[in-house]
Amino acid sequence: MNFELTEVQRDIQKLCRDFAARELIPHAKKWDEHHEWPTEAVKKLAELSLLGVAVPEQWGGAALDNVCYALAMEEISRGCASTGVIMSVNNSLYSDPILKFGTDAQKEKWLKPFASGQKLGCFGLTEPQAGSDAAAQQTVAVKKGDRYVVNGSKNWITNGPKADAIVLFTMTNKDAGHKGITAFVVPTGAKGFKRMAPDKKMGISAAWSCTMYFEDLEIPAEDMLGKEGDGFKVAMSTLDGGRIGIAAQALGIARAAYEEALRYSGERQSFGKYLREHQAIQFMLADMATELDAARLLVLRAALLKDKGVRHSQESAMAKLYASEMASRVANKALQIFGGMGYSKELDAERHVRDARITEIYEGTSEIQRIVISANLLKD
Ligand code: CAA
Repeated sequence: MNFELTEVQRDIQKLCRDFAARELIPHAKKWDEHHEWPTEAVKKLAELSLLGVAVPEQWGGAALDNVCYALAMEEISRGCASTGVIMSVNNSLYSDPILKFGTDAQKEKWLKPFASGQKLGCFGLTEPQAGSDAAAQQTVAVKKGDRYVVNGSKNWITNGPKADAIVLFTMTNKDAGHKGITAFVVPTGAKGFKRMAPDKKMGISAAWSCTMYFEDLEIPAEDMLGKEGDGFKVAMSTLDGGRIGIAAQALGIARAAYEEALRYSGERQSFGKYLREHQAIQFMLADMATELDAARLLVLRAALLKDKGVRHSQESAMAKLYASEMASRVANKALQIFGGMGYSKELDAERHVRDARITEIYEGTSEIQRIVISANLLKD
């Protein structure tokens, strides 16, 4: 067993840490306040090859491993949680299924320009009536000759307002349950594709999401991802990877909260000594640091298994469950250390609490992660 990162992994960690300090941390508060999409930051992520971290060079990516991806996600999210999820959706939810299930022709058309960051992708699984119950899709795709005609809607689609294409899940056989779901890659500019205004959210306000409608949207059959009826497996195996990204995002948010609280505890005095000289604060810091380390180990284990090509549904779910709930605990403790100032919009502590909360919900709620974990524990 080896806890040492490789030189390449340390390099990518440092590159992202420096980038976050320079390009993200100084702006994250303003982007959040104004619900401003971080245009320049996303452009720079592309220049650094961070929009296709684990995608082979042949398909426009950086050809690094998933451990590098997790380390990068932590550092970018430590700087700005919104930028983190924009990066994660393009890497994990859009690029990954095309890499895994796409033909070479599809990779040329739908992966290369996205992994290289010229274009941005999103992932359309969630519907108004199909959130946690992902098999209850109501968006239908009906075959007509060499095309499919799609009608329905998706909501909470992160990157949706900005994306150039979507990995879209549809029902091609309503009587077949999860075996009736089929995935396609669809350009967002297609006729019959309508996007609503960005959602108003509690946190990650700079990462836009939206509802979208499809009215007689025509998709060529050649843009089907995987086989007809394989869509549920495409979605689930994609989420196995996506959950590593969100767990790493949670880790980054928690680290931001912890590091700021640690610094403040050495600046602020009460009862004649620095906050960090009170045992009550020391115990909080000790718990925060321990939980951060535990979450990081879970995240890196899941990423390592993905790199080995081993099924990692349970490990990803454990990483996401623990890291996301840890992020809320740590962000709340950090706010407590800041006291009244933590509740003020002047500092970042309250943003970290808001940003952390979504990591317990998207890409599978904590309850869904517990279902995945227990189903794996009980399957033999
Ligand atoms: N990989 C491959 N196949 C898988 C799989 C995986 N990880 N998980 C399940 N499957 C397969 C099973 O083997 C089974 O196949 P067979 O029928 O051939 O046996 C089939 O899929 C059905 O599996 P289950 O019976 O376990 O499925 P279920 O319906 O009982 O439960 C669930 C599935 C875990 C509850 C699932 O619906 C789920 O994960 N729901 C949450 C959805 C989610 O995470 N949504 C997030 C949306 S994306 C998002 O949030 C984006 C964003 O904004 C950032």
